[in-house]
Amino acid sequence: MRNPLTLITGANGQIGKELTKALRNLHGTESVICTDLKPDPDPSGPFELLDITDINKMKQLIGDYKVTQIYHLAALLSSKGEQNPQLTWSINFDAYLKILNLAVEMEIDRLFFPSTIGIYGPTTPKVNTPQNASFLPSTVYGISKLTGEMWGQYFRNRYKLDVRSIRYPGVISYGTIPSGGTTDFAVEMFFEALAKGKYISYLLPDTRLPMVYMPDVINGTLQLMNAPIEKVSIASAYNLAAFSLTPASLAESIKVHIPEFEINYQPDHRQAIAESWTETIDDSLARSDWGWAPEYDMTSMVQDMLSNIRIQQNQVS
Ligand code: SER
Repeated sequence: MRNPLTLITGANGQIGKELTKALRNLHGTESVICTDLKPDPDPSGPFELLDITDINKMKQLIGDYKVTQIYHLAALLSSKGEQNPQLTWSINFDAYLKILNLAVEMEIDRLFFPSTIGIYGPTTPKVNTPQNASFLPSTVYGISKLTGEMWGQYFRNRYKLDVRSIRYPGVISYGTIPSGGTTDFAVEMFFEALAKGKYISYLLPDTRLPMVYMPDVINGTLQLMNAPIEKVSIASAYNLAAFSLTPASLAESIKVHIPEFEINYQPDHRQAIAESWTETIDDSLARSDWGWAPEYDMTSMVQDMLSNIRIQQNQVS
């Protein structure tokens, strides 16, 4: 394969920012072209404004920069997506289908598409969710991502396009804060615990959801993208998880470090979304196919989050 020249969409987002750092460390600053709808106030290398629905601009960028790999991260998440289902479909799916076609036309070597636990639905087994099961998602986010998975699989089978994908659980990180998701509480709680000593959770105390810590997301994503194609047996998207938590169990874990921390509960529309997802996931295929092995569990993640947010805040003040 050629030395990768990578284009990232949604590069200003929670995962985009960290993936950019990792890929620039691996392949050099100039080899990673970041794109986003909004300017990056602090770009660390090549950056282009890109509205993901503008496929002509995307085509021009691929040609100008001689792009060989794409990480297509731009999307609206589960909660925000419900505010405008039609727009969410255009961004999360219509744009993706155009990118799949463009990738074939422009002979892209490898394309990454993030899928999600949002593809699971009320009929999906909640415990140890299998790779293949009944998936009837209840949000437009889930519907668009599940459809995207199926089209990715179709393009791999029909056009030999090398599309790879992971069903990310809730992603916890301290760098760029997630927005518009149902799992955002697992990040917000840390910042509020440190700033105010209290947090009001929009999910009920015992709502259990699968999660993963950012360093493992980046390692896992690069592991999948660097694996030989014969190790990538799943052409739709891999189940993946590290640990599961509830708002109450996360609060207990934070209290070990901040004993005065208080949590209260005021569930909103996101409760129904969370309840339609699953609690734990069977990710054995990611483990056996390309070596997925998360380093962080809830306890080590909490310790690392708190110390890094403190470092970050001391640097600002
Ligand atoms: N983090 C996403 C959300 O909450 C799930 O993939 O929407």
